[in-house]
Amino acid sequence: MVKMVVIPLFFIAALLICSPSSHAADFCVGDLKGPTSPAGYSCKDPAKVTVDDFVYSGLAAVGNTTNLIKASVAPAFAAQFPGLNGLGISVARLDLAPGGVIPFHTHPAGNEVLTVLQGVICAGFVDTANKVYLKTLKKGDIMIFPTGLLHFQVNGGGSLATAIVSFSSSQPGLQILDYVLFANDLPSLLVEKTTFLDDAQVKKLKGALGGTN
Ligand SMILES: *[C@@H]1O[C@H](CO)[C@@H](O)[C@H](O)[C@H]1NC(C)=O
Repeated sequence: MVKMVVIPLFFIAALLICSPSSHAADFCVGDLKGPTSPAGYSCKDPAKVTVDDFVYSGLAAVGNTTNLIKASVAPAFAAQFPGLNGLGISVARLDLAPGGVIPFHTHPAGNEVLTVLQGVICAGFVDTANKVYLKTLKKGDIMIFPTGLLHFQVNGGGSLATAIVSFSSSQPGLQILDYVLFANDLPSLLVEKTTFLDDAQVKKLKGALGGTN
């Protein structure tokens, strides 16, 4: 019995000793002009932090889906919403017009939870054993995409589909497979070698996505 009381007391004492006394440790609103590292941005002076640093309205409006993918991604990562710097969380808004797609992509540094707000979204990911996990999601459904795994979302209905995606990192990162392959200056010959696609297909996709060489 004595042991059960003593152990929690020890941990509480340890916590009190280890916690910095300054309220600066409560948060680290990112100073976008300061140095950054994989751990995030440096902290804005806490004396200058206001409630507005913790509020972001950039996801309020429907995104512009007049583009190749007929979809838009509005991130609220640390770079857009410095208030969540260092807190290990972030969100983004997805809008998919009919026929819209968020092509195969990965977030190298964060797990993702997708919540459908309206419409129908066909979503899937592929694990490192190449097993496919595919589901048609409707309003209110949520789906998990584990860190690093390639995944996609496609509008599965005839009307606008909207989702909020939440991440277990304030800088989850975003790498889109088609852009890796076709939107840069990697020579077409190497794209063809490494993908087994033919020259005409690679040139066509480079043309559509802005790649050169
Ligand atoms: C949406 O994006 C397209 C292509 O960039 C642009 O032409 C159009 O003006 C934009 N629409 C709005 C409402 O901003």
